[in-house]
Amino acid sequence: MVIDELKKNYIPRHVAVIMDGNGRWAELHGNDRIYGHQQGVDAVRSIVEGAGEAGVEYLTLYAFSTENWDRPKNEVDALMSLLVNAIVHETDNLNEKNVKMLAIGGISSLPADVQLKLAEAVESTSQNTGLRLVLALSYSGRWEILEAVKKIVRKAVSGEITENQINECEFATHLSTSAIPDPELLIRTSGEYRISNFLLWQIAYSEFYFTPILWPDFRKENLFDAIVDFQHRERRFGKTSEQIRS
Ligand code: FPP
Repeated sequence: MVIDELKKNYIPRHVAVIMDGNGRWAELHGNDRIYGHQQGVDAVRSIVEGAGEAGVEYLTLYAFSTENWDRPKNEVDALMSLLVNAIVHETDNLNEKNVKMLAIGGISSLPADVQLKLAEAVESTSQNTGLRLVLALSYSGRWEILEAVKKIVRKAVSGEITENQINECEFATHLSTSAIPDPELLIRTSGEYRISNFLLWQIAYSEFYFTPILWPDFRKENLFDAIVDFQHRERRFGKTSEQIRS
């Protein structure tokens, strides 16, 4: 799919992506899993570019989940150094493309060098006004919901908030995505049909797009395919078709 085939007046504001299949891609190419993750960086570069060109406002990438800490130590270490390298080497490119980088997740649990380089990239791109690139790192939806609950309980105990004031809007302000609209479109690569603890609160009404493409082979043209597919869906939010059309 080429960008001209997108309806420019109906671009999802927020696209979230579960980048899956790096390990299988590496195995198919007779290499180790880490090579697959390295090739995954090219796919990240391509869809960041494509999302910006299409006019997507927020692109959230599930780069490292809370559960990923349980992978073999050499893979976790390789992913962390890959992140540092990618962040350092891509920051100029992000600035050229007017992309602002943000991060969500348990950032304080990341190695010190990752935290430092991440903070530098966030600061360096903070004035950019184009695409917001949100990296979910040491992130899981259940972790985030529990963190929000703890914050609300603290407020309730101190009398800052009453039970009646706790509604969906109030709850969402305690999530790490409080300043970010919910994703309209969630993409998962590699032919798996799972959510894997990603943005559990935020995807209540997201459209899902599953593709068999392994993450290292995913490019912006595939992102455009997903957006075109999204543009053909009727989003009803629990209402009837007639209500939506009128
Ligand atoms: C899932 O594939 C992928 C990951 C856990 C890591 C994703 C990380 C990158 C693409 C690297 C760089 C990211 C940024 C934002 C610069 P998998 O290992 O679970 O694949 P498998 O299911 O085939 O084993």
